[in-house]
Amino acid sequence: MKQLFLMAFSVSFLFSNPAFSADMPAKAKTCVGCHGVDGNSMVPNFPKLAGQHAKYLEKALKDFRDGFRKDATMETFAKNLSDKEIKELAEYYASQEAK
Ligand code: HEC
Repeated sequence: MKQLFLMAFSVSFLFSNPAFSADMPAKAKTCVGCHGVDGNSMVPNFPKLAGQHAKYLEKALKDFRDGFRKDATMETFAKNLSDKEIKELAEYYASQEAK
């Protein structure tokens, strides 16, 4: 149920928010609802990614994808990402200014 709510929340947020930045990797569009356009999440339950070290973000995403870090929500969003996509996402969020 919580999962459904989160999905509905992120989907509705996606469609109501046209402010995607141009240099954003394609896969980052699915992350916006929870982590914000530039990785500055406005929801206290979702971590900020902006300005985080790329290496750390890369590791976190691989850990979610490969089951070393357990979070039902993030597992859903990380499981179909390739190593290349993860690297692009990590570099994108690391290069954003933390607000
Ligand atoms: C439905 C909401 C939601 C969506 C969509 C989502 N995330 Fe997350 N994300 C979370 C939550 C909640 C956590 C905290 C998980 C935990 O407690 O371990 C998290 C954690 C993370 C972390 C670890 C942050 C840290 O400081 O350790 C990264 C990196 C991350 N998400 C990246 C992404 C990327 C990239 C996408 C898109 C492909 C994405 N997330 C989509 C909710 C979401």
